[in-house]
Amino acid sequence: MTPRSWLFIPADSEKKLGKADDCGADAVILDLEDAVAPARKPVAREMLGEFLGARPAERSAQLWVRINPLDTPMALNDLAAVVPARPDGIMLPKAEGPEDLVQLNNYLEALETAAGIDLGSIRLLPLVTETPGAALRLADYTDFSLTRLTGLTWGAEDLSSAVGATGNKDENGQWHFTYQMARSETLLAAHAAGVHAIDTLYADFRDSEGLAADSRQSRAEGFSGRLAIHPAQVAVINESYLPSAEQVEMARKIIAAFEAEPDVGTVGIDGKMYDIPHLKQARHTLELFEVYAA
Ligand code: COA
Ligand code: MG
Repeated sequence: MTPRSWLFIPADSEKKLGKADDCGADAVILDLEDAVAPARKPVAREMLGEFLGARPAERSAQLWVRINPLDTPMALNDLAAVVPARPDGIMLPKAEGPEDLVQLNNYLEALETAAGIDLGSIRLLPLVTETPGAALRLADYTDFSLTRLTGLTWGAEDLSSAVGATGNKDENGQWHFTYQMARSETLLAAHAAGVHAIDTLYADFRDSEGLAADSRQSRAEGFSGRLAIHPAQVAVINESYLPSAEQVEMARKIIAAFEAEPDVGTVGIDGKMYDIPHLKQARHTLELFEVYAA
């Protein structure tokens, strides 16, 4: 099942790495990119290799690594350092389009082979809206068969800096139109490509209520989870991306109604019409609930 919470941890912080096993996140993203200062990259790579190497094969959280962008020489150094330690996946920042993932796939095939790891076992999650050019061509992800792809996620901070904006939200905390568009297109492109849509981070990490409301809305729109920057966000996110008790009850009613009448395409429950898309949605709701409630 795809992670709901994806917690960033700067790879050069021993203290924060020490929290990875118990933070409760479904996935942690050990960051070699923007959370690490340029002079600290070599140290961070070394610390990360050691950290990953010391983790057991059975893990409570998936371990992902955010490498540096592919158009920098750092990316290959990052991959060479971490692939032998078998991370569950690689997050690619500033992905310009699906060709970047094809190139990354080729690197991974070579490095997996060299390290004796099953080919294709390391998954991919790109950040697909961090440059204006990337944000303009999200539909292209549907033209490629990228078997390692787990999902698409998006970011607003690098995009706003790239367009010279002084901010990306209005006074009510709503995204400006450019970021609403990037977010919606990420959602559509992910589902069109048959992978998960992962929402971006909620920057105000002390505002749990705001995070919960925003995350429930995000789940209702079709996102499976979101990025996190602080351990205090993890439990709120995990809870918010689970179906509510009422949603689970309704899903059970819909499934039962269709099971009672296997030859019909629509049923009525409490004066409302439900058809096949509702049945699919109900099955998805129950599946999610059963996996995470266990
Ligand atoms: N992962 C693991 N542990 C973290 C953490 C994280 N992302 N963020 C904070 N913590 C730890 C702190 O080390 C601190 O530990 P302590 O109680 O043992 O001292 C505890 O959680 C509370 O932290 P707090 O004091 O509330 O926050 P802070 O001021 O130390 O850190 C940030 C604030 C934003 C710098 C920090 O949350 C962080 O580094 N986030 C990730 C940033 C990142 O990776 N960005 C890249 C993607 S945008
Ligand atoms: Mg960034």
